[in-house]
Amino acid sequence: KENLKYVSSGKAKDIYENSNDTLIFEFTDRVTAFDGKKKSEYNEKGEITCKIAEYWFKILEKNGIPTHYIECPTPTSMLVKRLDIVPVEVIWRNYMAGSLLRRYLAGDITLPQGVGTEEGSLIPGGMIEFTTKFEAVDRPVATDEIISNGWLSEEEIEYIRDLTKRINDIISQELTSSGIILADFKVEYGRTPDGEIILADEVGTPDGCRFWKKDEFEKGFIASLDKDVFRKNIGDLTVAYRELFNKLQKNNI
Ligand code: C5P
Repeated sequence: KENLKYVSSGKAKDIYENSNDTLIFEFTDRVTAFDGKKKSEYNEKGEITCKIAEYWFKILEKNGIPTHYIECPTPTSMLVKRLDIVPVEVIWRNYMAGSLLRRYLAGDITLPQGVGTEEGSLIPGGMIEFTTKFEAVDRPVATDEIISNGWLSEEEIEYIRDLTKRINDIISQELTSSGIILADFKVEYGRTPDGEIILADEVGTPDGCRFWKKDEFEKGFIASLDKDVFRKNIGDLTVAYRELFNKLQKNNI
């Protein structure tokens, strides 16, 4: 990494140029929440999130989802294809939580029919949302605005909707035997030089998903194995992330 050209830093990752058409992601121990207003570092976080992202990229590729993942040259780094990043973040929700609940309680939105109004209420059939990626504060965007800004065509939005739903179904299915519920997640997409839209960034990590323990959920409690532990100050992030990773690995043997 010392001889690679530094490109930029995200909230938890540093990005380096590896070649004209590949990048190296370095997963750090940094964590941020609330648009960067809350910050910290946790030992081992970089290594655990890198391994979890690798775990899911391999499963998704095996299931026919096109992704930018190539390989992990070290325990905290990932070699990926360089893409032209689509400037929207894509959120899939299976259960009510986070900013959806907040926006509902603030009276900013009405919920789709049949959706309960508590944290943990099921969203029948799931729902997709889009937010801005390159603005200081993430803002929900309607598909009309995405199209009129020239960020995606209507067909591309449909393609991304389908791909994101498939990603949800694959990860949710894999998690059933680990006793974990996938409540929601965020993904990003990018275009290859030949214009194909493929999965970018990281996927399936506790930084970008909400994971709930199924046994607790069935008793009426939400027990998080994700960044909500940090957002809500309800435990040690490394302990929660390690517990998630151990459950995934057990599932795999
Ligand atoms: O905060 P919100 O409820 O909108 O988040 C939905 C999901 O997307 C959560 O799993 C959260 O961790 C993830 N997310 C993310 N990066 C963002 C915003 C949300 O990974 N910038």
